[in-house]
Amino acid sequence: MTDTLRALTNGDAPAAAALHAASFADAWSEASVAGLIAQANVLALGIEGAGGLIAFALFQSAAGDTELLTIATSPVRRGEGHARRLIEAALAPLAAAGNTRLLLDVAEDNTPARALYACIGFTRDGRRKGYYTAGRGVPVDALLMSRPLAG
Ligand SMILES: CC(C)(COP(=O)(O)OP(=O)(O)OC[C@H]1O[C@@H](n2cnc3c(N)ncnc32)[C@H](O)[C@@H]1OP(=O)(O)O)[C@@H](O)C(=O)NCCC(=O)NCCS
Repeated sequence: MTDTLRALTNGDAPAAAALHAASFADAWSEASVAGLIAQANVLALGIEGAGGLIAFALFQSAAGDTELLTIATSPVRRGEGHARRLIEAALAPLAAAGNTRLLLDVAEDNTPARALYACIGFTRDGRRKGYYTAGRGVPVDALLMSRPLAG
């Protein structure tokens, strides 16, 4: 069965929150995820496999900029191109909606995510010292990155 990319709805919040909890030390609640999915300025995309949601991403737009709020792939389905597929699928609709830049921040020690963003054309704009603290003994810097959205 082919994994299917689709927009998320409110009913996907429990599965998306579970993926988030499996991927980050600061797990978001189902209610937080549901609240974001419901926002008109949030593009929520997921990939559905045979057993349920295997990856999702949330993009929030304001004043011509879009921020990648979060992206996560199930730990047992990583390295199969799902995160790349989610971001690439978002580029055209975000640009069509009038957004010109896609922004994100990533922990400096998050090697897989940094490799993902580099191969999709993100470049570094700056750094926030000691931004990430959850689940860490020593705070880690955030790297601020962006890439243009085709206009
Ligand atoms: C980061 C994350 C979303 C990547 O998801 P994924 O579905 O495994 O990524 P993809 O398979 O689409 O990888 C796309 C590219 O990213 C790079 N990449 C992904 N994982 C990598 C790893 N572990 N090591 C090195 N490069 C990696 C590769 O260049 C890869 O392309 P390639 O397979 O053609 O070489 C996933 O590891 C994850 O959920 N991590 C925990 C949550 C997280 O850190 N999210 C990002 C927060 S900023």
